[in-house]
Amino acid sequence: MPVSSLPNVREFSTDGVVLVGDLSQADVQEALSDGKFASWIYMNPESDANFPLAAKSALGEAFKQVTVEGSTLTRGLANALTEAMETLPRPTMVQCSTATRASIAYILYKAREKKWPQAGALQRAREMGLKFFSKPPLAAFVRDSLRSDGLIFRQLFDTSGSSTYTYLLGCPITKEAVLIDPVKEMVERDIAVVDGLGLKLKYAINTHCHADHITGTGDLKKKIPGLKSVISKASLARADMFVEHGDVISFGADSSSINLEVRATPGHTDGCVSYVCDNMVFTGDALLIRGCGRTDFQGGSSEKLFESVRNQLFVLPDETLVYPAHDYQGRTMSTIAEEKALNPRLGVAKTKEEFVEIMNNLKLDYPKQIDKALPANLKCGIDD
Ligand SMILES: [Fe+2]
Repeated sequence: MPVSSLPNVREFSTDGVVLVGDLSQADVQEALSDGKFASWIYMNPESDANFPLAAKSALGEAFKQVTVEGSTLTRGLANALTEAMETLPRPTMVQCSTATRASIAYILYKAREKKWPQAGALQRAREMGLKFFSKPPLAAFVRDSLRSDGLIFRQLFDTSGSSTYTYLLGCPITKEAVLIDPVKEMVERDIAVVDGLGLKLKYAINTHCHADHITGTGDLKKKIPGLKSVISKASLARADMFVEHGDVISFGADSSSINLEVRATPGHTDGCVSYVCDNMVFTGDALLIRGCGRTDFQGGSSEKLFESVRNQLFVLPDETLVYPAHDYQGRTMSTIAEEKALNPRLGVAKTKEEFVEIMNNLKLDYPKQIDKALPANLKCGIDD
């Protein structure tokens, strides 16, 4: 019997995982023949008429029964499912009545393996066609299970002139924290906020090599021993750690690890990256609230920026919160849904040609700080 003839089957051959709905006893026997499956997870109670008794007796310890229903949707269940998926030998059959709940076990396991934050995992689950989205309580359970517990989060504003937002993210358990896009003039303020919350800075992270302000990274490194600076490899700037598309920056306790997923979003500069964390995305100057960064210097490209925003940011779940590197009108945040609908340059109603035309006609002034900021930022703001 080919696996694909099973009811509601969803096969992930690269992982050796098959998601499946109710099976007849004959199908169960067939699935067990020739050692086709080395382990099995069953998500209905043992009293269920379709309980795969033959699988339980054939596989012994490698057969796990985990009841997934309304009253059991807890963090403990999410951990149990993930652990079963991680430890059972492959190939693994994951079975419920319609393969809907089985898809939960799969995405929770993949998200932990790949360190995908909530928004990234939900995006991939949609791309894979996983079925739990059709059941709101199950979708809510997956969302909650993928979220870091009690993440500490502060949005800080540069009052010295560049209208930059600096973001502080911290783990409530280990107190490890990171800053995204710190500004040189605001370093004392940043350190006071970090100290006040009892946090320990691990990384100072830049979304790109800025042209409008000098990064605070260098000064922070002088004041905080052990702090590591982070920027994309493609930025060609100096730093302690370089990231590329698909990398994950992790900090915090194991049980509530906070993961920043790196997405390459070039176009404003060639080295621009965005960071996805839980249900938030830090977009730097790639996507601003109702706007975007300019594309006329630093290796900028309107075509690339359009592709970056459409293929890396607008694919995130609609409810993902957008936190940009700047806002000049007092706005603090947006969502992916809002920008898709309302961004006058990059909204889904605009074509790439229209976007390029808009960017070609902005007639912007030469950035005031660029001659000072760029050389400094290429060295992560550290004076030699
Ligand atoms: Fe910029």
